[in-house]
Amino acid sequence: MHETEARQQIVDLAASLFQRGFSVGTAGNISVRLSSGYLMTPTNSSLGRLDADRLSLLDADWQHVGGDRPSKEVVMHRAMYDARPGARAIVHLHSPHVTALSCLRTGDGPLIPPLTPYFVMRLGREVPLVRYYRPGDPQMEAEIREQGRRGAALILSNHGSLVAGDSLEGAVNAAEELEVTAQLALLLEGRAVRPLSEDEVAELL
Ligand code: 13P
Repeated sequence: MHETEARQQIVDLAASLFQRGFSVGTAGNISVRLSSGYLMTPTNSSLGRLDADRLSLLDADWQHVGGDRPSKEVVMHRAMYDARPGARAIVHLHSPHVTALSCLRTGDGPLIPPLTPYFVMRLGREVPLVRYYRPGDPQMEAEIREQGRRGAALILSNHGSLVAGDSLEGAVNAAEELEVTAQLALLLEGRAVRPLSEDEVAELL
């Protein structure tokens, strides 16, 4: 995608996420891979009020070459692109239901079982859970690389979601599906849930 078009798409989709409560304050960040580098939302910027001309521009080695200072989560995004060579965009949100789930003590099973076909179709077989790291902690790099190979969407303990897509629209759609499925998982907590069976999951992938 052309850089000018990508800038506008980041502004528009970020505003849409913000307006619907998927991000509040200055939480969350977005990056898009260009042919010669990356566009990223600046640190401490509201997803609701981005300026296309001030988005951070980074070169192919993730050096800051234009616009405002990039998100503190550069290392997290870089590790996810490394894990998923086909990814063209990454969305990180603190959307409320995923974040609530990410704060629960976990047992053996997945944090979100395959509840609906669209969850499986948009997010795959598994949404791995990443250990807790402070936002911006470069120490998360190895784990994001490893878990990112298992799934295009990750839940970050006590923090939120990280979703890669083959387009920005795809990453946003998947992040929305993850948030709504987390809401369903919380609504259903303690009830006798019938998740999709292995065969039902397999025919969706
Ligand atoms: P930035 O404002 O640096 O992008 O950080 C926001 C965030 O969501 C940290 O996880």
